Amino acid sequence: MARESFANRTTAILAMAGSAIGLGNIWRFPYMVGQYGGAAFILVYLLAAIFICVPIFISEAYIGKSTQLSTFGAFEKLAPNTGWKWVGLLTVINPIIILSFYSVVGGWSLAYLFKSLTLSFTDASATQEAHGAVFGALVGNKWAGIAWLTGFLVMNFGVVTLGVSKGIEKFTKITTPILFVLMVAIVFYSLSMPGAKAGVDYLVKPDFSKINGHVMLSAMGQAFFSLSLGMGTILTYASYMKKEENLVSTGVYTVIFDLMFALIAGFAIMPAVFAAGIEPGAGPGLIFETLPYIFSTMGRDFPALSAGVAILFFTAVLFAALTSSVSMLEAGVAYFVDHKKMARGKATAIVFGCCWIFGSLCCVSTRLFDFCDRLTSDFLMTFGSLLYAVFVGWRLKKADVLQEIPRPIYFMVRWIIPLVIIAIFISNLVMKG
Ligand code: PFF
Repeated sequence: MARESFANRTTAILAMAGSAIGLGNIWRFPYMVGQYGGAAFILVYLLAAIFICVPIFISEAYIGKSTQLSTFGAFEKLAPNTGWKWVGLLTVINPIIILSFYSVVGGWSLAYLFKSLTLSFTDASATQEAHGAVFGALVGNKWAGIAWLTGFLVMNFGVVTLGVSKGIEKFTKITTPILFVLMVAIVFYSLSMPGAKAGVDYLVKPDFSKINGHVMLSAMGQAFFSLSLGMGTILTYASYMKKEENLVSTGVYTVIFDLMFALIAGFAIMPAVFAAGIEPGAGPGLIFETLPYIFSTMGRDFPALSAGVAILFFTAVLFAALTSSVSMLEAGVAYFVDHKKMARGKATAIVFGCCWIFGSLCCVSTRLFDFCDRLTSDFLMTFGSLLYAVFVGWRLKKADVLQEIPRPIYFMVRWIIPLVIIAIFISNLVMKG
């Protein structure tokens, strides 16, 4: 059977942006900004996204597009009978680890959509503490967590078994614009809350004394996480691109869309966090404690508004999460389909099973959840990205690479990016030691 491909550049960009834009922007970015001191973190994040992530994105996509194969096969083809195939295999295992803890948060989104549908966020007199207690109860109930996680994974299963064009492409095209409009509306509301200005200052006035090796590693890790880099997902999606599509513009557009969503999420959440007197460093629960509070006060005189906005918002968050999580699932599935010649349904079931078991463990242990959250961005994705850059910059033939990748970007990939990543790793280790 002929391998599937994206119809054109727009659908390829939409699918990649769909993978990039997700809980990383809406849930993780605001809480990381809150934990790492606001504007200074954002500044490092922006620099990393533009100068490090764009070239890495293009390199990773180059490997997939030039081979039209997913991770394992792509490395085998470009560097036959070498250790590089283990990098390919690693990037089959990594998305499974991410998807496991990501599905826990995906499950929370599903639970919050359910709460919105049952009109839980319409009481304008509910205090911020009361909303915090609702989230605490959800996290505290392990069985409920596993049930929501299962629901979220079943949705992924449905999309991925439908295949690339019927499932993933169609899905992404509808949901991303809805999310965008809703988030912009929330920004305006959030900015209008009394006391919101302190939140805006927090986002735009950097305190440079806050920048250290750990903040840099976290900001860089967040940029990698948000752009789905170093995991084989961008590689796998790029393998579905047509030969004539341009990698550079695809990369640049994807990064722009992704940054836009992260910044919008920051401006939607932080002003409200300050207006409500919530602690910005509250951690992974931040959006789940803040947003319902925003929604319930929004409809003070008109509860149907609270309910309507909450339902639409959590539907869109769920969809954003799904377009990202299906890309992780797809990276694992593509390995079994391409390399092991397995039927798509069976391959999806295997990856689903692994994620379900590991994800359930993350539901039961908050420590395991936190560990996977940090491990993926600070280590697995950063390290994976480093390997992709070294592979394209040092292992592949320069003349071949230069046919698709412009010279200045190639220079960055070969020299600057490996050095920056290694320097930040070392400075982080020294700081910790
Ligand atoms: N980029 C996604 C987000 O921001 O939610 C998360 C993600 C997707 C990470 C795919 C890794 C990945 F391979």
